[in-house]
Amino acid sequence: MARERIYLDNAATSWPKPASVVEAVHDHLTKLGACAGRSGYREANEVERLIGDARKQIAYLFGTHVQEQVIFGHNGTDMLNLALHGLLRRGDHVITTSVEHNSVLRPLSTMREMLDVDVTYVQPGEDGRVDPNAIGEAIRDNTRLVAITHVSNVTGAIQPVEEIFAIAKDRGVRMLVDAAQSAGHLDLNLGETPIDMVAFSGHKGLLGPLGTGAMILQADIAEELQSQRQGGTGTKSESDQQPTELPSKFESGNPNVTGILGLRAGVEYIREQTVTALNRHCMHNTARLLEGLKTMPTVRILGPENLEHRTSVVSIIVESFDPHELATALDSAFGVQCRAGLHCAPLMHQHLGTIGIGGTLRFSLGIFNTAEQIDRTLEAMQAILR
Ligand SMILES: Cc1ncc(COP(=O)(O)O)c(C=O)c1O
Repeated sequence: MARERIYLDNAATSWPKPASVVEAVHDHLTKLGACAGRSGYREANEVERLIGDARKQIAYLFGTHVQEQVIFGHNGTDMLNLALHGLLRRGDHVITTSVEHNSVLRPLSTMREMLDVDVTYVQPGEDGRVDPNAIGEAIRDNTRLVAITHVSNVTGAIQPVEEIFAIAKDRGVRMLVDAAQSAGHLDLNLGETPIDMVAFSGHKGLLGPLGTGAMILQADIAEELQSQRQGGTGTKSESDQQPTELPSKFESGNPNVTGILGLRAGVEYIREQTVTALNRHCMHNTARLLEGLKTMPTVRILGPENLEHRTSVVSIIVESFDPHELATALDSAFGVQCRAGLHCAPLMHQHLGTIGIGGTLRFSLGIFNTAEQIDRTLEAMQAILR
């Protein structure tokens, strides 16, 4: 019999997936079995229709209607690389923060070395949230971009991206939001707040399979952005030049159709349930987890106290315990699966003072976790700490 898993690693990738996601993946592998946008037989046309619908569903989820501006890629990192390498030019200044994931930090470091891109790292406050005014104060004449995560994958802190966008737009600076930890968890309405580029994973809060990611671009920035991969698109095949139309400009080579059809089903599921209702469920369990952890004297919880300022990502440090040892004990003795370490966000740990102690122990809740699983996690923690 399979061992029961209490899966609390949804910030890495969500699990389990809704049955409709599994079915969509299965259907493509067993029945539809075709590429998108290349051939003209019945199954290929159906795949093309479903891929178009996946773009539409994602656009609607983010409050927009222009499906061509939804670009698919391999994961959140792929999309962030396209945004950063595609936009930045020699000598540009970029503002980012110490909260960022290496998917933003490493492309920027590479561009610092190769293109003399100048990077300012704004520090968050005590609770892990960035002050929009600090971003405004960092803007210079040659600032081209503000790149910031919507939600920290270490502390769960929600960044005020709408306010930051208002400041950046007013100063003529472009904005990239890394929505890897917020897509599917928080509403971000691009109809009301038309952020230039929003990049995210398909396999986390959006409930799709691994190997999927997407970015939503505003039309004018799509023109400025250089494609990072050129090749076959199934369109304008008579030309050896990369097409300029969306989404072909940024989608060369066969996409991960199986994954995107699974992602489509995930987004459909979220839209049916609504982000608000799913988030309410996650936050109910997060509050339960936080309350229980607060009763443990050797546990320190990082990130915002106020539940309105955080998501269901909860990092802790525990006196006299290495986070990796704790994670191993939780899994091996109790089937509680979470993650220990730096979570690919080294500057955040420098800021928190947790870099020298092996980082944090991170629980990240998903929509299928139950209150009973949270109680069992708390009992497991108590048993280990006793
Ligand atoms: C904040 C943040 N940005 C980017 C990424 C990268 O996403 P992906 O694993 O889809 O490349 C992650 C993944 O954990 C993340 O947490």
